[in-house]
Amino acid sequence: MGERLLYEGKAKRVLATGDPDVLLHRYKDEATAFDGRKRGSWRGKGRTNATMSAAMFRYLEEHGVPTHFIEQVDDTTLKTKRLEMLPVEVVVRNVAAGSLAKRLGYEEGTPLRQPVVELYLKNDELGDPLVNRYHLRELGVDDGTLAACEEMGLKVNDTLRPFFEERGITLVDFKIEIGRDTEGNLLLADEISPDTCRFWDRETGERLDKDRFRRDMGGVEEAYAEVLRRVTGEG
Ligand code: C5P
Repeated sequence: MGERLLYEGKAKRVLATGDPDVLLHRYKDEATAFDGRKRGSWRGKGRTNATMSAAMFRYLEEHGVPTHFIEQVDDTTLKTKRLEMLPVEVVVRNVAAGSLAKRLGYEEGTPLRQPVVELYLKNDELGDPLVNRYHLRELGVDDGTLAACEEMGLKVNDTLRPFFEERGITLVDFKIEIGRDTEGNLLLADEISPDTCRFWDRETGERLDKDRFRRDMGGVEEAYAEVLRRVTGEG
């Protein structure tokens, strides 16, 4: 079908297809953290991230968030629309953890008064720094686009928080990426998975996400399988 490798990242490959407007995202079992300084891999990771992203994109589409998702073609591969990606990562947080806990001097687990939205520059060489709208204006992202990105982040949060709550999971925080299709529409892109979200068990507080790998907590394969099971009802 004329597949051609466009990009090979830490955790996935992006392939061009015979259709210029369609891509394949193939998820790998490999993981990196801390700007690639820590490496690992575990069985089932690619399948979990692909299957879970597909489920999340379907659910979000049903709830009025437009996404790049077309279909899941096999265990580890999603077919998506080809987008012009914005150079921005949008992080939304409900509970203090990770870099926000450090930045504000909060204990991890402190609930936030209201969701906190943060903008990061998508640039591996610079280590994806936190930026504000003045920086992004300087880089050519206009205010209307940024406002739409923040709004999309909050809408994803409002939609997914209750979805996970019903499955016994606190959506602590997550990162999304956004792109523009050929008609100029902003669509949710990239992935929504335990690589890009913090998921804590509501009862026990147990971490069910990539922090188990980042922090050498063990049980990472089991944690990913557990999230997948709760989301799709399968292991
Ligand atoms: O590390 P930090 O606390 O800023 O991460 C916030 C959220 O964004 C976490 O859910 C993390 O998994 C996600 N994230 C990501 N990719 C990055 C940075 C953070 O998916 N490059």
